[in-house]
Amino acid sequence: MSDEFGEAALKNILVFYEGKRSELIPILQEAQGIHGWLPGKTMQLIADFLHINEGEVHSVASFYNQFRLMPLGRKMVTVCRGTACHIRGAPQILEDIGQSLRLKEGETSPDLEYTLESVACIGCCALAPVVKVNHKIHGEMTRERAVTLFPKLSE
Ligand code: FES
Repeated sequence: MSDEFGEAALKNILVFYEGKRSELIPILQEAQGIHGWLPGKTMQLIADFLHINEGEVHSVASFYNQFRLMPLGRKMVTVCRGTACHIRGAPQILEDIGQSLRLKEGETSPDLEYTLESVACIGCCALAPVVKVNHKIHGEMTRERAVTLFPKLSE
C-alpha cells in the first residue's frame, strides 16, 4: 500500500509524544521534516492524535511562518530584505523576480519549479543586494541581472 503522505513516518514521530495539546507546535515542526511542508492529511492525523479540531491545527500552522502549507519548488529563490540589501534595491529586485516568476512572496509555482521567499539576512551583507537560488549566492544583484537568472521566464 502506498504511503505517499508519510503516515508511517508521522507515526514514528508521534510515539515520542503523549497526545497533549501543548505538543502541537513541536509535532508540527517534526512532521514538516517528512515532506518539507504540511499536507492536509498530516494535519488531520495530528488533530486526531491530539484530540483537537483539524481547523485548530490548520490555524496554528498558518499563523507561524515557519510552517509551510504548500510544497516547495525545486528551485528556492530567496531574496534578502535585510538592511544592507534593502538600501541597495532589494525591494525592487524582489518585485521584478516576482513578476518574472509570476509569483508573490511565499508562493510556489503550480509546476513546483519555483518557490519565492525573502529572508531578513542571508549572511553576506558585503555582497548586497543578494539573491540565493537553492544554495547558490548571487551577490551585487541588479534588477537587470535578477531577471536573467530565470531565462525561460524572462523571454
Ligand atoms: S542584509 Fe542582505 S545579506 Fe545581510
